[in-house]
Amino acid sequence: MADLVDAHPDQVVFTSGGTEANNLLVKGVAASPDISRIAISKVEHMSMLEPAAALGDTCAVDYIAVDSDGRVSGQALQQAVRPDTGLVSVMSANNETGVIQDVQSLAEIARSNNIWFHTDASQAAGKINVSFSDWGVHAMTVSSHKLYGPLGAGALVVDKRLPLQAQLHGGVQEHRLRAGTENVPAIAGFGVAAELAKRELTERALHARKLRDALEQGLVHFPSVTVFAREAERLPNTVQFGVQGFDGETLLMQLDRMGIAVSSGSACTSGKTEPSHVLRAMGVPAALALGSVRVSFGKDNTLADVEQLLKALGEIINAMKSSAVMMAASV
Ligand SMILES: Cc1ncc(COP(=O)(O)O)c(C=O)c1O
Repeated sequence: MADLVDAHPDQVVFTSGGTEANNLLVKGVAASPDISRIAISKVEHMSMLEPAAALGDTCAVDYIAVDSDGRVSGQALQQAVRPDTGLVSVMSANNETGVIQDVQSLAEIARSNNIWFHTDASQAAGKINVSFSDWGVHAMTVSSHKLYGPLGAGALVVDKRLPLQAQLHGGVQEHRLRAGTENVPAIAGFGVAAELAKRELTERALHARKLRDALEQGLVHFPSVTVFAREAERLPNTVQFGVQGFDGETLLMQLDRMGIAVSSGSACTSGKTEPSHVLRAMGVPAALALGSVRVSFGKDNTLADVEQLLKALGEIINAMKSSAVMMAASV
């Protein structure tokens, strides 16, 4: 696992997944007497945003803005940090849009300001080259099931100098940073999956990019569809798009009925669909963000799957158009 992200095995703290690794990082750093303020990007995964929101008075949190492509610029980072900021966290790649951040440059800015730097590489590891050492980060999150490993394993890779306090207390496991008997079968599987991901990285990326490009070329023919962050550097397997006039959840259900599993960036809270916080941070209008669908290709998807998805989307959009025409005619 350490090999996959260019780290030393001694730097790996195994956890139950990416969520726990992010919780350990946020709460563990905030619990350190040295740190009273952190800055995280607005487009982080909920497993970063929620623990940060739960810190209360123990630690102040600032949020780093992104541009319309979902990228954190060096300038935005500089603007968000204050003299007492102790840690910055910017994800390596976004789980909705696939947008890749320039972690190496951002970490350099943080280091030159004497600030610790964490990156959530849950989506990036296994899909693009990820390097704990070359990027110069002090902590990195990795999740097993995102790279075909078993559920129930993840890791926080840590520079030993990072002030971090355990959040699970008990035994001395994982360098005293995560007590409890390790989930050995899942961790062993994580290791094998990481090894395979490293070996097959280029091949998997080329395959995914071929499918992604085919999907995007097909989507161009739907005037109501917008591909988000299309010009930005993105993960080879991820596409997020919005369909004007649709609710993402409804689209998802219709596609599901047609045998297609995709996801939406919106969240259902108290029975009401909320637009994705990632798209809102990018300045996407709420109406379009509500109709967002995220497609992530796996190594076993084929071009036939892309064609099936395009056909299904066409049918759904046309059905909606003709029911709108019928409604207008009956008025
Ligand atoms: C960017 C990112 N971070 C963290 C997580 C949480 O990882 P896990 O499912 O292993 O808890 C996810 C899962 O979707 C993710 O996409």
